[in-house]
Amino acid sequence: MRAAEEVAGTLTQPRRARVPGLAPQLNRPHAAIHLGEYLQMGEIQDLFERVPADPYVSAGFRHKSIMRVHVSDGQIHRATHGPLFQPKEYNPIHGDIVRHYEEIDERLGTLLEPAIHIFAGCARLSGEHEVLVQTQRITASSGDDGHTGFPVVEGWHQDNISVLGLFLVNRVNVAGGISMLAGDRRGEKLVFAQTLAVGDLLLVDDTALWHNTTPIARIDPTKPAYRDIVIMTWPSCRETVTV
Ligand SMILES: [Fe+2]
Repeated sequence: MRAAEEVAGTLTQPRRARVPGLAPQLNRPHAAIHLGEYLQMGEIQDLFERVPADPYVSAGFRHKSIMRVHVSDGQIHRATHGPLFQPKEYNPIHGDIVRHYEEIDERLGTLLEPAIHIFAGCARLSGEHEVLVQTQRITASSGDDGHTGFPVVEGWHQDNISVLGLFLVNRVNVAGGISMLAGDRRGEKLVFAQTLAVGDLLLVDDTALWHNTTPIARIDPTKPAYRDIVIMTWPSCRETVTV
């Protein structure tokens, strides 16, 4: 608890936004809320079957598609599709690489709108802010045993953004996958460690906390095993900063 209080104390002080001109938007450094009943989770889960393999993870355990949107006047509008980019300083594995992904299909994007509205509302984003939405599946099909998956390949990290939202869509036949937040880059000042349930949304002030997720392990070796999430961020990780 002491670590949590220390971190909370530091958050009452003004902090430097790492992207110039962008101040942290959330009231609190992190909050987990449940909103699964407000979405059509069954259809969303079915559509994750179509999320394509991530060509930048050669071990084959990650699938990913993306879209960018603006939320204005209660409506969600898609922004121009384009690649992801993060500086190597923040992503030692895929940093300084322009990564091209398929766009999230129209139906899945529409079904995710309630979660995007909640994210944008909590982060106090308006029409001029561009939100990056990523659908991501991690399969427990890698590692030395062939039954492990790695939700976060870079370990403890920040994403050079202001606000992060992690929406848990599905967990099938897996153990592990514990979402963790800490006040330092080595994860020693742990402030949150929880297995998110289907329909949970974890909001994180990325300027204040580092995040990580433990590997997932297949439970029944004869059956498919995966963890599906939606990652929402602002700003939207383009090659040039887009507010
Ligand atoms: Fe991240």
